[in-house]
Amino acid sequence: MPFDVEFVRQSWRQPVSYFATIDSTMLEAARLAEAGCAHGTVVIADEQTAGQGRHGRRWHSEPGAGLYASIVLRPDLRPDSLPVLTLALGLAAADAIAETSGLKCDLRWPNDVMLEGRKVAGILVQLLDSVAIAGIGINVNHVAFPTEIAAEATSLRIVSNRLYSREQLLVTLMEAVERNCGVLAGVDGRQKILMMFSRRSSYARNKRVTVEQGHSRVEGTTAGLDPSGFLILRKDDGTEDLVLAGGVRPVS
Ligand code: BTN
Repeated sequence: MPFDVEFVRQSWRQPVSYFATIDSTMLEAARLAEAGCAHGTVVIADEQTAGQGRHGRRWHSEPGAGLYASIVLRPDLRPDSLPVLTLALGLAAADAIAETSGLKCDLRWPNDVMLEGRKVAGILVQLLDSVAIAGIGINVNHVAFPTEIAAEATSLRIVSNRLYSREQLLVTLMEAVERNCGVLAGVDGRQKILMMFSRRSSYARNKRVTVEQGHSRVEGTTAGLDPSGFLILRKDDGTEDLVLAGGVRPVS
């Protein structure tokens, strides 16, 4: 079904740029941000031909099946709050999925959104001076994935055997992003988001994981988040590492 952008425009008061096909919504959002667009401007596409994932990976962007959105945020935040902003965005995606589908997601630090142990949504945050471009991809109505990612990916449809309105999900997502940005910018915002994340994520504490750090792989047990939002990993020799970037996987 074609994306009903008018439905989104009626519900979201900031500019909405829609593309049937685009290379990546991240690139267009960056162009709009440089041209001075408003906080909350959203770029949405039915299909991406060069969807970007974290760590230089591609984001599988099947036409008409997923939600592919980049939101321009001009948050009133100190630069050291940015790692927590990415946690706030993962929480927003999990909230939007729960509100739309009733499905309860786990969060794999820093911001992979998981259902039944597989990834259903991913967040990519890019900074341009004081602007954050929040890229959010949600696997909504996919029935299958390419072999390379089939073991790791899932969709709302695969898990629940139901079809979902991507437009409704997008509006709910934008509201959740706005809400969590408000929490973060408010009094004790960082601590509040860290607490919300820790409650929601089975990865935040007491989870046996491996972490890829450059070319090496470290195993240990997660021991909470530090005040900046980084993950504390307690190794078997009792020492602790601070994990600054992703690559966290459960030990099976
Ligand atoms: C990840 O690797 O987990 C992050 C995936 C982010 C994908 C979204 S889809 C919309 C936006 N445009 C992109 O090219 N990437 C992000």
